[in-house]
Amino acid sequence: MTATSRRPRTTAKRIVLAFAAVLVLFGLALVVMLVSLAEIATAEREVARLDHAKHAGHHAAAMAREQYIHQAHSLLEWNERHVEHYEAVAAEARAATAHLRMMVTGAGPIAQADQIEQLIAESDRRFRDEVLPAIHADQRDRISELHRRTEEPVAEVVAINGTLNRTLERASDAAAARAEGIRGRARVVVVACFALAIVLAIAVGGYLLRSISRPVAALTRGAERLGAGDLDARIGLGGDDELAGLAQAFDRMAADLAARQAALVEASRLASIGQVASGVAHEINNPLGVMLGYVQIMRRSDGDREELRIIEDEIRQCKAIVAGLLELARPVVVARAEVELAPLITDAVERLADSGQSAGVAITVAGGPATTIAADDRKLRQVVHNLLGNAVEAARDPAASASTVEVAWRSIGATVEVSIADRGPGVAADVLPRLFEPFFTTRARGHGLGLAIARSLARAHGGDVALAPREGGGTIARVTVPCADPEAR
Ligand SMILES: Nc1ncnc2c1ncn2[C@@H]1O[C@H](COP(=O)(O)OP(=O)(O)OP(=O)(O)O)[C@@H](O)[C@H]1O
Ligand SMILES: [Mg+2]
Repeated sequence: MTATSRRPRTTAKRIVLAFAAVLVLFGLALVVMLVSLAEIATAEREVARLDHAKHAGHHAAAMAREQYIHQAHSLLEWNERHVEHYEAVAAEARAATAHLRMMVTGAGPIAQADQIEQLIAESDRRFRDEVLPAIHADQRDRISELHRRTEEPVAEVVAINGTLNRTLERASDAAAARAEGIRGRARVVVVACFALAIVLAIAVGGYLLRSISRPVAALTRGAERLGAGDLDARIGLGGDDELAGLAQAFDRMAADLAARQAALVEASRLASIGQVASGVAHEINNPLGVMLGYVQIMRRSDGDREELRIIEDEIRQCKAIVAGLLELARPVVVARAEVELAPLITDAVERLADSGQSAGVAITVAGGPATTIAADDRKLRQVVHNLLGNAVEAARDPAASASTVEVAWRSIGATVEVSIADRGPGVAADVLPRLFEPFFTTRARGHGLGLAIARSLARAHGGDVALAPREGGGTIARVTVPCADPEAR
């Protein structure tokens, strides 16, 4: 699994959250609307019920009057012929009061409905118990009194119905006002939710523009530059979202590509130098051998003259250059075997001392863990030899602060790093990038091939060589080599 796939999916998460927030706002508006509609419906039902109650009150009052009209009819005719009609109207009046009683709620209206019921019943009672017996007994002198007695409850019913009507009217107005209040509140909440959702949608749009379009545009520009051959093209996008991850992966890819391209250029440069040089070197090698042989014979037979010694020395220099060139030009074939690092290094140090090359320089092998690596013993030895040679040269420089060289090694994961440090004059920053160029040298007797050969051999192992300034003065050369054969993995 790559680093990119482990990244938190923050852009997707943010988009989902933003849309969820917009949906929540719409949901809230919907809920508020539904609750408000339910409350408005309840209030409107209450208004309708109160209207019915008012009608029931008016109907009861009308029936009280109707009942009285039929009572008055009997009084005017002064007989019982109309009683049959009266019975029907009285029954209707009783039904009207019962209906009113059913329609009202609340202590006040119930008490008023009860009063209306009692008054209509009282009017009926007076007709039956007082008017009809008086007609039977033909007591005509009581007509006015009986009129008054039967009309009295009706007047009271009308008055009480007026009060009841006003009470119900107030309650109905309050319910209507409540419905209107709920409607207004719902309107405000819904408008606010929609406005917020619109603002949020605009913010989400802006965020998408910033967090998606811009990185995508930067990625497109980077890809176009890279496609046009600009290996320095980088997106340089910070952050930890998916697009930042993609941009960082693109930057890593571009850096790897640039490094590979540089290595390819270096390799092809070395190859073309190598082709010419190896041809020349091959041709020169034999005549040089012949010349060296004759010079040596002449030194032995003609006496050891200074001029002959110088000629032999120069021929040896030429042979060293030719050997180096051939080494550099030859394709490196790594014959891997198990190599113990510690003896390889101590051996290289001893050989340098035996040849007298490190005379006057104290080389200390600081050591490291016992390490076995899969490498080509001869070629690795050559790498260490070249770097040791440089360090010894630097330690001998008059500008050196100490004539010492320290060798150490350590394991870094699946790699071994050998470091060779000196207290020599160090490397000037401006020449640091050129050190590995073939024939680059600052030494009077140098050939400028040691580092180029060392790097080519180390890279053939899947490793590398690097030089860096040492803290406190001097130079530190580092060779890294994988412990196992990278091809075999
Ligand atoms: N330890 C070091 N301290 C200072 N300069 C160094 C060191 N190692 C290498 N250099 C610089 O790098 C240059 C190139 O080194 P390289 O080993 O390739 O060639 P050389 O030592 O000059 O010749 P030769 O081919 O004989 O080794 C040196 O001339 C020197 O300027
Ligand atoms: Mg050298």
